[in-house]
Amino acid sequence: MKQICVIGVGYVGLVTGACFADLGNRVIALDINEQRIEGLKKGLMPIYEPGLEELVKRNVKAGRLSFTTSYPEALEGTEFAFIAVGTPSAVNGEADLQYVAAAARSIAENTTAPLVIINKSTVPIGTGDWVADIVTKYQPKPVISRSSPARSSCAKARPSATSSARTAR
Ligand SMILES: NC(=O)c1ccc[n+]([C@@H]2O[C@H](COP(=O)([O-])OP(=O)(O)OC[C@H]3O[C@@H](n4cnc5c(N)ncnc54)[C@H](O)[C@@H]3O)[C@@H](O)[C@H]2O)c1
Repeated sequence: MKQICVIGVGYVGLVTGACFADLGNRVIALDINEQRIEGLKKGLMPIYEPGLEELVKRNVKAGRLSFTTSYPEALEGTEFAFIAVGTPSAVNGEADLQYVAAAARSIAENTTAPLVIINKSTVPIGTGDWVADIVTKYQPKPVISRSSPARSSCAKARPSATSSARTAR
């Protein structure tokens, strides 16, 4: 069982969080939309997916899934943080990454222990490095190293500057 934070509780984040919880993990789902989080705490689904309401309610009841608007609360004890915020098309047709940047910065500013950041949002190649740079810049202590898993982009925050630095692609 892992402790997971899903950031952005939309179509992707809510389904991802509910499924991870149903697999037995402890999931905290975070969104800056207070109305959405208040609704979810009352059992109101912001979207419709077949079976989702039952899945969410079962895992909330079991204590494996909870909702918050607080980054410090969401990141406390978290081992894996999935960024699942929106990336709408910008005026020039490219993905607007401002929400990804905001989420990465908030993770950096509120992380107190090692965690792995995974981009679940649809982003261009190279965004892993870009997110890692944001995390490095805004982490209060210089405790960042980077990892380079073969299948996804991620930045790994470690509690010690002695950690070996590897580059995310
Ligand atoms: N919807 C799909 O079927 C689908 C499929 C594949 C990929 N994607 C991709 O997944 C990503 C998410 O899509 P979606 O449809 O779930 O988006 P969505 O708009 O339904 O949800 C995004 C959520 O992120 C929240 N958010 C924005 N900034 C935040 C921040 N700084 N911190 C915390 N929460 C924040 C918003 O309030 C919103 O609730 C996008 O990149 C999208 O392209 C979506």
